[in-house]
Amino acid sequence: MNILGIETSCDETAASVVSDGKKIISNIIYSQERVHSHYGGVVPELASREHVKRIDSIVKKAVDSAKISFSNIDGIAATQGPGLIGSLLVGVSFAKALSISLSKPLVGVNHILAHLYAPELEFSIEYPALGLIVSGGHTSVYYVEGILKYKRLARTRDDAAGEILDKIAKYLSLGYPGGPIIDKIAKSGNKDRYKFTIPRMRDKSRDFSFSGIKSAALRIIRKEGKKLNIPDFLASFQNIIVKYLVSNLFSFISEYKTRSIILAGGVSRNSELRFAVEKEAKKNGIKYFLPSPELCTDNAAMIAGLGFFYFQKGDFLSLSSPPFSRFEPKGFK
Ligand code: KG4
Ligand code: ZN
Repeated sequence: MNILGIETSCDETAASVVSDGKKIISNIIYSQERVHSHYGGVVPELASREHVKRIDSIVKKAVDSAKISFSNIDGIAATQGPGLIGSLLVGVSFAKALSISLSKPLVGVNHILAHLYAPELEFSIEYPALGLIVSGGHTSVYYVEGILKYKRLARTRDDAAGEILDKIAKYLSLGYPGGPIIDKIAKSGNKDRYKFTIPRMRDKSRDFSFSGIKSAALRIIRKEGKKLNIPDFLASFQNIIVKYLVSNLFSFISEYKTRSIILAGGVSRNSELRFAVEKEAKKNGIKYFLPSPELCTDNAAMIAGLGFFYFQKGDFLSLSSPPFSRFEPKGFK
């Protein structure tokens, strides 16, 4: 079954053709980075307009580079949410129109669950797994019992990890997105130079909170002024974020008898995070699955891939179903 996936939840306009939920035939991603870089973050209104301009050609490119025609598409899968509502509306409306004009069935895929599915496009995951989704919009830990069987164990109560990387890079005028820039500069820095501490929630919950680390970073920048050693500061700042993510993620492994660790989301491209997860997983004797960079970040292959399982369940999207901006999982489905 050839599924055409469409992803427009944030600032990537993406389309992909995936066969039987596993084999990527094409995977086209147009990143709007250039449009938003001037502002140091995604501007929702500009993102929607850019999706409108690009979606037609990106979808066509995905079908052309799969070397098939629209008649060979068996179904369409679009990201229904969560995400920026204006951006989602572009992809969902486009997918609905395409579904009517081609007389092909349509499913609406959950973006978060698709991130958790992304490693399946490259590996055969051994479940149950613990998944860390870490991006510019999300930082959460999921217990994944199998495909589409999940439970959220922790989430951020304020900023996402990628968001504070981007904000601090913006504050230091380093460019956008900040994550990859910090990753690069931090390599030459001394991570022990500036002191940060891992936040603890007062209610003993293992939810994340990144606002304290962000405030501590701003305090150091202001206090040091011109004396601030940028590589050392970024190495220390990135190191505390990685330590926090990894210690929280692995704190769940004894309670939830997990066989594997899955990473997902744009920040999971981070070299220090990947190295730390690999090291900790080996120490604990569990498998780890780290997707390639283009499958960490927002992409439509994960939407088309997971969409296959929505088709199998007969979970179709009706023309009157709207996109949704937030996702509050209730536990196992
Ligand atoms: O998943 P994604 O493409 O979009 C969403 O936010 O949904 O993630 C983008 C985030 C940005 O915050 C960006 O700075 C971060 O991923 N990022 C990285 C790296 N590459 C991208 N953060 C740290 N290290 C990287 N190498
Ligand atoms: Zn995402």
